[in-house]
Amino acid sequence: MSLTWEAKATDGYARAGTLKTAHGDVPTPTFMPVGTAATVKGMTADAVRSTGAGIVLGNTYHLMLRPGADKVASFGGLHKLMDWSGPILTDSGGFQVMSLAGLRKLDKDGVTFQSHIDGSKHRLTPEISVQIQHKLDATITMVLDECPPFPVTEEQAQSSMEMSMRWAGLSRDAFVPRDGYGLFGIVQGSVFPDLRRRSIDALMQIGFEGYALGGLAVGEGQEMMFAMIEATWDHMPADKPRYLMGVGTPDDLLGSIARGIDMFDCVMPTRAGRTGRAFTSRGIFNMRNARFADDGRPLDPGCTCLGCQRHVRGYLHHLFRAEEMLGPILLTWHNLTYYQTVVAGARAAILEGRLDSYIAAVRARWAEGDQ
Ligand code: GUN
Ligand code: ZN
Repeated sequence: MSLTWEAKATDGYARAGTLKTAHGDVPTPTFMPVGTAATVKGMTADAVRSTGAGIVLGNTYHLMLRPGADKVASFGGLHKLMDWSGPILTDSGGFQVMSLAGLRKLDKDGVTFQSHIDGSKHRLTPEISVQIQHKLDATITMVLDECPPFPVTEEQAQSSMEMSMRWAGLSRDAFVPRDGYGLFGIVQGSVFPDLRRRSIDALMQIGFEGYALGGLAVGEGQEMMFAMIEATWDHMPADKPRYLMGVGTPDDLLGSIARGIDMFDCVMPTRAGRTGRAFTSRGIFNMRNARFADDGRPLDPGCTCLGCQRHVRGYLHHLFRAEEMLGPILLTWHNLTYYQTVVAGARAAILEGRLDSYIAAVRARWAEGDQ
């Protein structure tokens, strides 16, 4: 049987559940750290596990170019290569190719593009993307889709969505089912509720193990993004996981969890960590800021990460100023731990029917700051 998702409790629209896969169970809601190039940048797999992460994300686009899907397969797959025995979700490549701007050409059957690494020519179709994700041994395979830019006209959004829905059917046909593995469809339709509902209907006709919301967090703003989640809530199957792609800030996560989202991925905690930005229970800090130079407090006193347990803010400040590699490592570690803490707190609150008060308390601490 394919992977499943089981609800444990609901609180308003929010859901707590368990994703059951060939590579283990994951409590949801869950945040997936991004491991684009078969590594969560700067982190060993043990370090990623220690943050509380249960599932990580990989990218078809990057891995097909380097080191290549066949090479990953020859090493025994992505889990073995990364030392990550838990589930891995791979994005299909469409979204990453789209951001190549001039170097790609889209047609009705797929996309042809030039590698950003050596300029070599490659092609992705729904079938090729699924085959590559099989070679990588992705626990969760994503359909190839087109993520339209924002803003687009309703006509453009419609024709793009209809193409993505046709590709979703071709992806389903190419997917070889295995116990505990699954294929997720991706809802498109930009900011047009009617298109998004038609997209879901089309995906449900095909049938998937999970449903992702794509085409969001591309500049439409949090209010519009939340409105799009709300517009589709009643149309999504209640017994399948819902994944909001590429989102977001801790505040985006809380608002989306309250609107029924179960899964997230985003480069934000890792990318921010590499540049000195810390997500904490007291808001967002820039560790390069002079105000931290003499600060002898842990970054976030309640945090269980290595940096918060063993080091003071003044040390993190020094590491970033001196451009020492431990700075990005410790701050990536912390940010991922903070994201997992926020999401695990939301899950515990859903199980106890107190999500609203949990979210209000988290937001109140951000607003208070640490001065
Ligand atoms: N990551 C963030 N948004 C998207 C999207 O719309 N499609 C895909 N495939 N990946 C994404
Ligand atoms: Zn920490």
